[in-house]
Amino acid sequence: MSNRTLISGGLVVTAADEIHADVLIEDGRIAALAAHGTAAAETWTADRTIDATGKYVIPGGVDAHTHMELPFGGTFASDDFDTGTRAAAWGGTTTIVDFAVQSMGHPLRDGLDAWHAKADGKCAIDYAFHMILSDVNESSLKEMDLLVEEGVTSFKLFMAYPGVFYSDDGQILRAMQRASVNGGLIMMHAENGIAIDVLVEQALARGETDPRYHGEVRKVLLEAEATHRAIQLARVADAPLYVVHVSAEEAVAELAAARDKGLNVFGETCPQYLFLSTDNLAEPGFEGAKYVCSTPLRPREHQAALWRGLRTNDLQVVSTDHCPFCFTGQKELGRGDFSKIPNGLPGVENRMDLLHQAVVDGHISRRRWIEIACATPARMFGLYPKKGTIAPGADADVVIYDPHVQQTLSVETQHMNVDYSAYEGKTVTGQVETVLSRGHVVIDRRTFTGRSGHGVYVPRSTCQYLT
Ligand code: URP
Ligand code: ZN
Ligand code: ZN
Ligand code: ZN
Repeated sequence: MSNRTLISGGLVVTAADEIHADVLIEDGRIAALAAHGTAAAETWTADRTIDATGKYVIPGGVDAHTHMELPFGGTFASDDFDTGTRAAAWGGTTTIVDFAVQSMGHPLRDGLDAWHAKADGKCAIDYAFHMILSDVNESSLKEMDLLVEEGVTSFKLFMAYPGVFYSDDGQILRAMQRASVNGGLIMMHAENGIAIDVLVEQALARGETDPRYHGEVRKVLLEAEATHRAIQLARVADAPLYVVHVSAEEAVAELAAARDKGLNVFGETCPQYLFLSTDNLAEPGFEGAKYVCSTPLRPREHQAALWRGLRTNDLQVVSTDHCPFCFTGQKELGRGDFSKIPNGLPGVENRMDLLHQAVVDGHISRRRWIEIACATPARMFGLYPKKGTIAPGADADVVIYDPHVQQTLSVETQHMNVDYSAYEGKTVTGQVETVLSRGHVVIDRRTFTGRSGHGVYVPRSTCQYLT
């Protein structure tokens, strides 16, 4: 027996089109679209009809950068795959790509197995993995090929965090050379961590221990320099490059220059860089610790360059880098020493709404909203058109979005497992109303109707965004 759901009367918005259309879902997939009120749509019968009149019907969000339960600075990110994926669903995201971590001295396989064990049977929405390479050596390079074949097709390297995740330029070049052959996509944390560590030591020696000094030592120039270096190494290796969590205007300029040369160089930014700034890091009474992440928040002037990059396609993706740590007991580890504050912000639940607010504010168009939050992340990481669009054959990951409702973001109403909101008190226009994951209603008019374990692991193909 097939199971049919009809979403009727809404404005279907994809990266390509905006059409008043009815959407027929059959057995978890999009079966057909037809212009609303036409004869084709009138003949459709369904077990369930969802009235989307006056609402947007959009693809479920694809958040290509999350860290559930990430071990960092002697603690763990406070959302696990259960709480974090529920929160994602509440925020209209139906797929996450999380980062499995290779431990120093261990094979990639061990790290990947460990992340499968964390996620298996717990997720409310679908999920996939990137792999963090912390130890680039002969055997981990060989293992990259196997991972690409089984659907882990992207690898994050760090130019920051010496002694933890850091790779030197030789290791980076080797990994890029391998990726250029096996089709993997190198994702780069581009900050000069060696120089940053010198500045951290000097700042602490001067007694500069407050959270705001996190932003001062992690200099714009050191993000731009690392971005430039990563691009040149990728050119030498003839490999595509995706720079994660871009925050500085000067780093956007490096990406733009590379793209003007026609290179396969891509950039991601995150809502925190678009909506928050060093003003937040400077909040008194250690409140600034809530905003410690890397790359750091920048002076407000950088935001215009990020918005412009999103419009000109010098930046292609907005992900959250969701990596929450509670203020109490976790961020507090860095009282008296900003370098001990665990790095990361909560946000998996807020991304679709904040980017819709960017539409309301006139920064981006409605279709660009869907492109940077759904379609391009799906293409970039080999999930398209199963994820990221509403088209026949695609998974029925669909959000009914009310563009008129006003809501105030707050720790009181959010679902992420963390004791603060980075956007406390911010009012945005628009809210997720109903969410379907592979045809199952997981949020029904703002009631959670999903379950842990509904979400499945999705192996990915290689990057579908190369020119
Ligand atoms: O501060 C951040 N971004 N924490 C998560 C780890 C990373 O570098 O993405
Ligand atoms: Zn209509
Ligand atoms: Zn990073
Ligand atoms: Zn991250």
